[in-house]
Amino acid sequence: MSFIEYGDTIKEGDTAVVFLGHESMFPVKVQNGGKTQTKYGVIRHSTDLIGKPYGSKVTCSKGGWVYILHPTPELWTLNLPHRTQILYSTDISLITMMLELKPGSIVCESGTGSGSLSHAIIRTIAPTGHLYTVEFHQQRAEKAIEEFREHKVDHLVTVKNQDVCKNGFGVTDVADAVFLDIPSPWEAIGHAKSALKHEGGRICSFSPCIEQVQRTCLALEEHGFTEINTSEILLRVYNVRTISLQIPDLGKAAEDNASATAFDRGSPSNQDAASPQAGTVQFKSSVPLREMVGHTGYLTFATKSLF
Ligand SMILES: C[S@@+](CC[C@H](N)C(=O)[O-])C[C@H]1O[C@@H](n2cnc3c(N)ncnc32)[C@H](O)[C@@H]1O
Repeated sequence: MSFIEYGDTIKEGDTAVVFLGHESMFPVKVQNGGKTQTKYGVIRHSTDLIGKPYGSKVTCSKGGWVYILHPTPELWTLNLPHRTQILYSTDISLITMMLELKPGSIVCESGTGSGSLSHAIIRTIAPTGHLYTVEFHQQRAEKAIEEFREHKVDHLVTVKNQDVCKNGFGVTDVADAVFLDIPSPWEAIGHAKSALKHEGGRICSFSPCIEQVQRTCLALEEHGFTEINTSEILLRVYNVRTISLQIPDLGKAAEDNASATAFDRGSPSNQDAASPQAGTVQFKSSVPLREMVGHTGYLTFATKSLF
């Protein structure tokens, strides 16, 4: 089982996600004889995990339960060990679509960072595509190689430990798409152009600051890229809640009012006494969260065309 092939059952060596709730989950490396501590008690890998189907509800030693989930790139993005800032699924979804990634695509990326985007790209381009990812920080490059091997996707990715602005991607005329998430993307546009196929392809650069975007757009124009376009994508999350609302029984209240004395009508205690008779309706309501993730970064897309 790997990050891209969905295995039915949990196996020794898998990375699985222990799901306690939407706000609480973490990855575990499944090992014969291994134990994982949760707030609901211990999970014993040999008896509780290995051989069980993914999605199983597993009871921990203190009686509480958790779900054991397959590690999709989306769940990995939420659970990976952070070595850098990372890209999240909202931006990743637009990147994947606008770069026109599909099975078989050849993609160049820099920097690799924590590998959040890399995992999503690999899942999309598998089984016949390839990702060339460049990271100049040696430990980050080594950690990425180790994770890709553990997740059994190393045949789909080549990690190069070099400066993309000085040395490029190490490949020429092969890529369908290039993605940049580095502080000075304008310095890598020339290398991106030579990595892209002669007949053309797509490029995307992620930058948090508009000044970086301006310099990147100028560099893209200088190198003959067309359809230069910058977007910012914001996610608005809604909470679904069950609301109980008391509806006064107006017909009944009118009857009661007719027989009530003038003194009773003005009495607060009388109004209170009338409310239990009112009906209650329950309905689902969705409300946007009061706080949301605002700006993450600008996504600049462009096309290298033949002409
Ligand atoms: C923000 S992180 C990338 C995060 C990544 N997109 C992810 O989703 O996990 C930026 C990375 O680019 C690397 N980097 C910066 N400049 C670079 C360069 N000129 N060549 C190669 N890597 C570079 C940094 O070391 C850092 O790891």
